[in-house]
Amino acid sequence: TTDERPAGFENNDHKPIGHGRMLRKEDPRFIRGKGNYVDDVQLPGMLHCAILRSPVAHARIVSIDTSAAEAHPKVKAVVTGAALTGLGLAWMPTLSGDVQSVLATDKVRFQGQEVAFVVAEDRYAARDALELIDVEYDLLDPVIDVRMALDPSAPVIRDDLDGKQNNHIFDWETGDEAATEAVFASADVVVSEDIVYPRVHPAPMETCGCVADYDRIDSRLTLWSTSQAPHAHRTLYAIVAGLPEHKIRVISPDIGGGFGGKVPIYPGYVCAIVGSIVTGKPVKWMEDRSENLTSTGFARDYIMRGEIAATRDGKILAVRTNVLADHGAFNGVAAPVKYPAGFFGVFTGSYDLQAAYCKMTAVYTNKAPGGVAYACSFRITEAVYLIERIVDCLAYELEMDPVELRMRNFIQPDQFPYRTKTGWVYDSGDYEPTMRKALELAGYDELRREQAERRARGELMGIGVSFFTEAVGAGPRKDMDILGLGMADGCELRVHPTGKAVVRLSVQSQGQGHETTFAQIVAEEIGIPPADIDVVHGDTDQTPFGLGTYGSRSTPVSGAAAALVARKVRDKARIIASGMLEVSVADLEWVKGAFHVKGDPGKSVTIQDIAMRAHGAGDLPEGIEGGLEAQICYNPENLTYPHGAYICVVDIDPGTAQVKVRRFVAVDDCGTRINPMIIEGQVHRGLTDGVGMALMEMIAFDEDGNCLGGSLMDYLIPTALEVPDWETGFTVTPSPHHPIGAKGVGESATVGSPPAIVNAVVDALKPFGVRHADMPLTPSRVWDAMRGVPRPP
Ligand code: CDP
Repeated sequence: TTDERPAGFENNDHKPIGHGRMLRKEDPRFIRGKGNYVDDVQLPGMLHCAILRSPVAHARIVSIDTSAAEAHPKVKAVVTGAALTGLGLAWMPTLSGDVQSVLATDKVRFQGQEVAFVVAEDRYAARDALELIDVEYDLLDPVIDVRMALDPSAPVIRDDLDGKQNNHIFDWETGDEAATEAVFASADVVVSEDIVYPRVHPAPMETCGCVADYDRIDSRLTLWSTSQAPHAHRTLYAIVAGLPEHKIRVISPDIGGGFGGKVPIYPGYVCAIVGSIVTGKPVKWMEDRSENLTSTGFARDYIMRGEIAATRDGKILAVRTNVLADHGAFNGVAAPVKYPAGFFGVFTGSYDLQAAYCKMTAVYTNKAPGGVAYACSFRITEAVYLIERIVDCLAYELEMDPVELRMRNFIQPDQFPYRTKTGWVYDSGDYEPTMRKALELAGYDELRREQAERRARGELMGIGVSFFTEAVGAGPRKDMDILGLGMADGCELRVHPTGKAVVRLSVQSQGQGHETTFAQIVAEEIGIPPADIDVVHGDTDQTPFGLGTYGSRSTPVSGAAAALVARKVRDKARIIASGMLEVSVADLEWVKGAFHVKGDPGKSVTIQDIAMRAHGAGDLPEGIEGGLEAQICYNPENLTYPHGAYICVVDIDPGTAQVKVRRFVAVDDCGTRINPMIIEGQVHRGLTDGVGMALMEMIAFDEDGNCLGGSLMDYLIPTALEVPDWETGFTVTPSPHHPIGAKGVGESATVGSPPAIVNAVVDALKPFGVRHADMPLTPSRVWDAMRGVPRPP
């Protein structure tokens, strides 16, 4: 309650947005260990599913013998791909319109692929029985190097696809090739660099899993599932299983981090559902850490050639890139249909250019399928990394300060809305103040002086800058859908007679604090204190349809829906108030939580009075029904375009080549800020992600296709020891089309921080003539860069 707030956490009931540090409504549950995650779900008679996975990357399946597993006393069912074929469930659609096998029937195409599953009385018996399944594989050559995948001699991975003769998935281009070529041909300076964004993994604390409960009598399926998009998942299950949506209930309870990795539907979910259908009992499937790292959606894996053209005095004229995209064995990219490379088209960054062009080729390899939008809006992380790295390469060649070069090229405030050369319309931005604020917080000039002194002493200190613009809030229905589902979001608001309210969302929090911030948005619009507004999400039976939470879309889309549904209720409340106060609607003014008669402020009714009248005795104005509730489906006009300026300071130990992030300053602009404390938390998380990707994380494979990052001993993620005390700041440039001016922020820091860190490391290595080095900048890679060893191919 309000009284329990510690000092500094004021009561902001009448100014719910953007002020103070309102505590999170969900935290009492989490800090007392009362969160309710999928693995906490226990149903009477529940069985357990475990999945047998391929030990090899590419092989034909000769035979599968399940007899010993079936004889295990605790085993209730053993299911193979052949059995699923009979049910028409051996293959399922991916979010990008490819097909992926649920259980391999013909071949295995990556190490860790699902081959069979066991349903048993307990988790241990299920795992033990996997050992009893005998699979004979006929090994095939694996295709591991994406650069070899299109070689005519490369084995064809997807021979399941009719007539497929190669490993090509798609070509995609954006921008104007000829115009860009003309600018490059006449530019004073052209700089090119090969830049790799390695394969990484979202690695959420909670792995993927579900509990499937199929009621054979009523043909009803209830699925507790680690899903970032319960409604979209329900529709896909309905299509695949041929069940009507109202017979399927998807419940996403508390989710222990998603970061894009819980957007796809994985074979394990389908296996658990089939297991429940076959046994008639509820079936739980929870992956272990290694299964999560090796088989669920990876991210990135782009090999990019970046080129930038400029004048000698640092006016950037054009950028161009050629990308080879490794999608693994099945194209499991999560992106709107029209955007096979997600929002990579925003690779022109925050700069006013004359021309831009991108060409991309996507290919299959014998690796786990993906790539998910790991804490980013569909490939924006790759785009931001490319432009912010190549701009630094240009600064290196021009011997210019990287801040000065960026400032000279920023899109100017009067150019917004700004149409980029690849067709995106940035809604609003004012970049220079954000950059200046970061410089001021960092003490940039002083840092450069210190660096000069240290360099003179042979010490390796680096200062890295990045400036990003993101495109978040997918998206306008005319442009964006996923498998035919438009990206609009529903929202319902019901005010009870006593003036308490419940708002029902289609989005799904995975730790972002929606139960708090959506209550704040509604409170701001309707004057009911946030504590009196209950936020319901994550259950398709309880909430309206919408596409879920990823790509920082919750605030831009559902946040707008929440504000507008509250306004709709307020409009009705105004009419009821006019009846109660016996004045015309035009004579009323709204002052936080009450309608007052203009010129007679003593005469007023609160929203709570109105709620009681709406449900109570007495007449309502002509044509007004009882009750106080509304529903909308919000279709965003445009994406929102948050921006930010990040400055990183690193020290490198010249003896061990170990990088230490000494300081990190992040100034974010996400338009109107709803909950500053939550924003800060989101930014801290994203910056930590950035340290991981820049310095530690990579899902690597050996030449046979064995995944080398299958545990957290090999796939290193940052801890408190590797990160500094984050220094954050903000500016506010509202979105002109969002009802409260808010832009997304959940992923900004994951997107913006890797280039700042890499730029800092490369800056530290300047005395060695290093212009670029690829992530992750582990000690061995930094050591090699210092000694001029060529980068890994
Ligand atoms: O879609 P997702 O929730 O991951 O990302 P988001 O919409 O950027 O929001 C992340 C969290 O930050 C939510 O709790 C938002 O309400 C909050 N937020 C905020 O307080 N102010 C903003 N301008 C944007 C987000």
